[in-house]
Amino acid sequence: MKQTILVTGGTGFIGSHTTVELIEAGYNVVIVDNLSNSKIEVLDGIEKITGVRPAFEQVDLRDKEATESVFRKYPAIEGIIHFAASKAVGESVQQPLMYYRNNVISLINLLELMPEYGVKGIIFSSSCTVYGQPKPEHLPVTESAPHQKATSPYGNTKEINEQIIYDYIHSGAGIKSIVLRYFNPIGAHPTALIGELPNGVPNNLIPYVTQTAMGIREQLTIFGNDYNTPDGTCIRDYIYVVDLAKAHVAAMARVLDKQTEPVEYFNIGTGSGNSTLEIVTTFEQATGVKVNWKYGPRREGDIEKIWGDCTHANTVLGWKADTPLADVLASAWKWQQKLREDGVM
Ligand code: NAD
Ligand code: WQD
Repeated sequence: MKQTILVTGGTGFIGSHTTVELIEAGYNVVIVDNLSNSKIEVLDGIEKITGVRPAFEQVDLRDKEATESVFRKYPAIEGIIHFAASKAVGESVQQPLMYYRNNVISLINLLELMPEYGVKGIIFSSSCTVYGQPKPEHLPVTESAPHQKATSPYGNTKEINEQIIYDYIHSGAGIKSIVLRYFNPIGAHPTALIGELPNGVPNNLIPYVTQTAMGIREQLTIFGNDYNTPDGTCIRDYIYVVDLAKAHVAAMARVLDKQTEPVEYFNIGTGSGNSTLEIVTTFEQATGVKVNWKYGPRREGDIEKIWGDCTHANTVLGWKADTPLADVLASAWKWQQKLREDGVM
């Protein structure tokens, strides 16, 4: 009997790629999304890739009654992957209460409803941002590394939500959770039928690179080349979004069907770091397209370097990110070309 999974934020960047992998792994999927940062047309892309159009409910998870109606309508839901959140670091500094209400209340509504409707497990989208800037001796960073004080309300919602999950489950809630701490998800599905669609001027590096390569942006600024790194630019652990999606399928299978700790934590990255300059040069080599870029001042709030020790996920989840960086960056370019072809940007 196929298991049914609720994917919140399922028309978003990571949620849509995870929905594809869940369907291809044999799960039924119900997407809940309020379309605040994604478009309903994403369902078309999912259907074209998988041949299946997932059930979709346009619901705002801050509305507990509306959220409960989803559980009533789909009583077969056994597990949840909770992607839905606001995620723009800068915006969170301007609108902290919106972030706390959206990211924290939505989670609390789901957690309260889970035991009532027999939902056994929830996978939570966390972020390496909880580690802040690890000390040099703590790189690559493991799941047991100390957490640093969040540098933004957004990052704080991840820290708070991890704690809420832990406290609720240890109060005897009768559910389980796996917390996945993502590093930097990038790229797009190899079909270029789904990908990252940032609203407005992108904050993240890869969409800015591809939009500059496409001529949508005049010039990429590399924020700072005076860091204590080999080429002076920041280092991050860039993980292919499809590899990340596959980690969620492995985590869902574990939380539903295996004996696990009440709450488990996994770093989801490649285990290696690349500098901003390496990303730009690898993109140019992979695509044959030049990027107009310059060095500029450091960006406020950027940490210098972080990459993950992902051996825990490799061994316990039986999952590993294995797509070469050049292929990942080529997928991001193919997606940007598709957006141009379709007249989207
Ligand atoms: P995204 O914005 O593309 O997807 C989030 C989706 O949630 C959107 O479709 C949005 O419409 C929906 N949503 C937001 N608030 C909602 C609400 N109240 N009710 C219903 N739907 C709502 O973001 P993403 O990049 O796919 O990120 C997914 C998750 O992963 C987020 O929790 C984010 O914090 C986390 N994360 C992302 C990154 C990254 O770099 N993209 C890194 C680490 C963690
Ligand atoms: C990556 C690197 C920049 C843009 C953020 C959030 C994090 C998570 C992922 C949600 C940095 C450099 C970037 C540009 C640049 N989001 N850069 N020029 O900052 O590691 O993480 O997104 O959970 O919470 O903080 O990702 O893509 O913004 O930047 O030089 O125009 O690229 O300095 O070193 P970041 P990013």
